[in-house]
Amino acid sequence: MSDADTQKRAAGEAAAGLVEPGMLVGLGTGSTAAWFVRALAERKLGVTCVATSTATAELATSLGLTVAELGDTGEIDLTVDGADEIGPGLSLIKGGGAALLREKLVWEASRHCVVIADAAKRVPRLGQFPLPIEVVAFGHKTTALRICDALGECDIGAAPRLRVRDGQPVRTDGGNLIYDAACGRIEEPAVLAAALKSVTGVVDHGLFLDLADLALVGTADGVLRLEP
Ligand code: A5P
Repeated sequence: MSDADTQKRAAGEAAAGLVEPGMLVGLGTGSTAAWFVRALAERKLGVTCVATSTATAELATSLGLTVAELGDTGEIDLTVDGADEIGPGLSLIKGGGAALLREKLVWEASRHCVVIADAAKRVPRLGQFPLPIEVVAFGHKTTALRICDALGECDIGAAPRLRVRDGQPVRTDGGNLIYDAACGRIEEPAVLAAALKSVTGVVDHGLFLDLADLALVGTADGVLRLEP
């Protein structure tokens, strides 16, 4: 296992230690969240889970966890999920796995949100990781031009690029498309978040601000706890 995988696993296992019997637990998406799901399943706590993607729902179900629909079970006690970047104040970029919309829906329905990651995800400023932006398929090229304008208003010169895999546009679980914007530096994440949300056709973006209450970051010296 690589150092990064060892750190992701340690963070996921530490987060599983936060879960108590009977909780309603939000399950993130990605390789780090998968370590959490495995560790949670091993604890056999009798929890009910809400998944942020079909991939995570399938993993959780295969491990014997009970998965419910978001909204069927009341407020989520704790959601644990990975991130692509962890910046100041636990501001985050998420969506590298194209699950950002369902992730944000679950995070916003949760009493507590814990982000788990390997040490390389910590950054002094957000923006090196291309910012994922989920858009509806209809008219997406026009929407991309308007995203360009929104980025420009924030002094970001990046041209958003349609995410493609195996020659085909990537479709999210909701059937939408993803554009990635290589911002470089995001000086004012809240301003950019608002500008992107104001574009018709943008469903959501990967800036997760003021949502995480705790980060558990795997490092060479153990798991670091960070608060906003
Ligand atoms: C999924 O859409 C993302 O938000 C992931 O949580 C993020 O990309 C982190 O993925 P890894 O844990 O695989 O690095």
